[in-house]
Amino acid sequence: MSKISILKPLVLKEITIPNRIVLSPMQMYMSDKDGNTTDWHLAHLGKFAIAKFGVVFTEVLCIEKRGRSTYSDAGIWNDKHVKNLKRIASFISEQGSVPAAQIGHCGPKSSRQRPYDGLQPLSKSKDKKNELPWEIVSCSAIPAAPGYDVPHSLKITEIEKLIKKFGQSAKRCFNAGFKILDVHAAHGYLIHSFLSPISNKRNDKYGGSRENRIRFAIEIAKEIRKYWPNEYPLFFRLSCIDRFAGGIEIDDTIELSKKLKNVGVDLIDCSSGGIKGPNSLFSLASKEAPKPGFQVPFAEKIKKKCDIHTMSVGMILEPDQANDIIKSGKSDLIALGREALYNPNWALQAYRKYAEENNFDEWPPNVGWWLEVRQRMLKSSDPKDWKVGKAANNTFRE
Ligand SMILES: Cc1cc2nc3c(=O)[nH]c(=O)nc-3n(C[C@H](O)[C@H](O)[C@H](O)COP(=O)(O)O)c2cc1C
Repeated sequence: MSKISILKPLVLKEITIPNRIVLSPMQMYMSDKDGNTTDWHLAHLGKFAIAKFGVVFTEVLCIEKRGRSTYSDAGIWNDKHVKNLKRIASFISEQGSVPAAQIGHCGPKSSRQRPYDGLQPLSKSKDKKNELPWEIVSCSAIPAAPGYDVPHSLKITEIEKLIKKFGQSAKRCFNAGFKILDVHAAHGYLIHSFLSPISNKRNDKYGGSRENRIRFAIEIAKEIRKYWPNEYPLFFRLSCIDRFAGGIEIDDTIELSKKLKNVGVDLIDCSSGGIKGPNSLFSLASKEAPKPGFQVPFAEKIKKKCDIHTMSVGMILEPDQANDIIKSGKSDLIALGREALYNPNWALQAYRKYAEENNFDEWPPNVGWWLEVRQRMLKSSDPKDWKVGKAANNTFRE
């Protein structure tokens, strides 16, 4: 087993993750109009599995049609979605990575343009693509950001139906072959709109006190656990702080994490921000550029205070930086978002960086063999020096 912390396996419940490197959930806006993932997703997610990411997450899969952020979001509200997702999960497993799904509901951030089209609500987008808006829902009738549509505030009976939909979506993820499930409760989406006092102005059992604001999240976790096997890990992605006065503070998240642990959540996926629209993600609200590892302190604190596994995400760029996070026990996993988009071979390059002779021994042999020969050719013009090392005998996953 590797002595390098990010390359060591992690056992969570009955699932062994081969290393600590995770592809963070990222919406790609490439699904068809019915929410089906496509071959594009297979190729996109598949490449991270080939490149030895330990866990490969889908983007957020929407638990109902109303909960899509755009017309190109991926869905899990229908049994028909399972077929294409099954192919993706199976391919990821075949490469030795753990296939993981994220589920969620975009709540007050539903019915808008794709980021590259402008990110405006469809009702105000003067959309050239002729995409009509739909009615959006949230905890309270408060727009996600100035200029966004006023959402319909969910009635208790509607909340109960949504909780059931989370359970049914978890069941579909299981049927598709995913081994880890993450619930998107961050970034100003529906669950976060209940958690934050900024967006939750209800005066029934889902609003007011902290206990009431977290009720929706806890009931979702309980419902999911009826369908998601106990042997499989359940993650929850939280915005650990809102970064606005009167919003969620880290102590609120610590209390919530303890309660989530009691109802069967295994890991807190530590993000932040988003409650006041897209510009409140990262640390834009505080007008500071986010620094590398800016969300790691949340993962560290929650791990220590709640005795629960955590995942760090956000501006994790370099293998040494990632390795320090794991080695010093600040979190159990590190997730890469944009850095993985920039460099899909990040994990393979980390294996090579830490290999004793900087060789390609840990690369898939059909690629590693060639690169090793090339490396030898670059070092020496004498064919005697070109014989390959261990990479020639590698199996795909030793
Ligand atoms: C294109 C894109 C799409 C994203 N979609 C999701 C998503 O579906 N679910 C989610 O929880 N976070 C989503 N995020 C946030 C990332 O998972 C990650 O937390 C964030 O980008 C910070 O990590 P990074 O600095 O490594 O990019 C998205 C980010 C990007 C760049």
